[in-house]
Amino acid sequence: MKEIFSGIFENEGKLFTKNLVPGKKVYGERLVLVNKKEFREWVPWRSKLGAAIKNGLKHVPLQNGSKVLYLGSSEGTTPSHVSDIIGKNGLLLGVDISERVMRKFIQLCEQRKNLVPILADANQPEQYAEHLEGQAVDLLFQDISQKNQAEIFNKNAKLFLKSGKPGLIALKAKSISQKESPEQVFRKEIKVLENEFKILQVLSLGPFEKDHAMVFGEKK
Ligand SMILES: C[S@@+](CC[C@H](N)C(=O)[O-])C[C@H]1O[C@@H](n2cnc3c(N)ncnc32)[C@H](O)[C@@H]1O
Repeated sequence: MKEIFSGIFENEGKLFTKNLVPGKKVYGERLVLVNKKEFREWVPWRSKLGAAIKNGLKHVPLQNGSKVLYLGSSEGTTPSHVSDIIGKNGLLLGVDISERVMRKFIQLCEQRKNLVPILADANQPEQYAEHLEGQAVDLLFQDISQKNQAEIFNKNAKLFLKSGKPGLIALKAKSISQKESPEQVFRKEIKVLENEFKILQVLSLGPFEKDHAMVFGEKK
């Protein structure tokens, strides 16, 4: 196992994180034992952050103890790997609008004490500001299929991210426009993101996710 970023490992072309809850799988991923330590395979076909790392994300702004606001936590596939990376001293606040997926995520939060569930609309960040107790986060992450993806991200950044802090957003072209090409859609969304962020990297997520891009920026 070679550590390629803090808490993120690679072996024979596959990504892994060290399992915070040994013996437990989250989404059917493979568990591997190396020198008595258990690792969970991070499947890029199931996780846009995993796909971005496979596609050459230059910097993964996560480490032991990081505090993350994660918009679109769903059932917790990617959040579970973030949970492994940030460890017991870290915290991930997972926001999702769907009660159905939140039920599954809450079960995961019971196993992983560094995950906190927030049932809310990410378009209305004032509604969950109290959960953050006025504190800024170390990373804002978003994976939400909405028409105004960039606007939602900017709103949250204004409230919860300090200048110079990182943001990562997965853009889904088809949720924004069926008519325009993904490239046109990404160009427009990035323009919106530039109101709040200095853009540092844009990556296509193919072949893992069709017509998706990951944008990495730093809050202005
Ligand atoms: C593609 S899934 C996220 C998958 C997750 N990031 C992962 O990798 O494990 C998108 C999620 O965004 C949620 N979502 C959509 N609109 C939302 C909104 N306005 N506020 C919060 N969550 C929203 C959906 O309920 C869905 O669970």
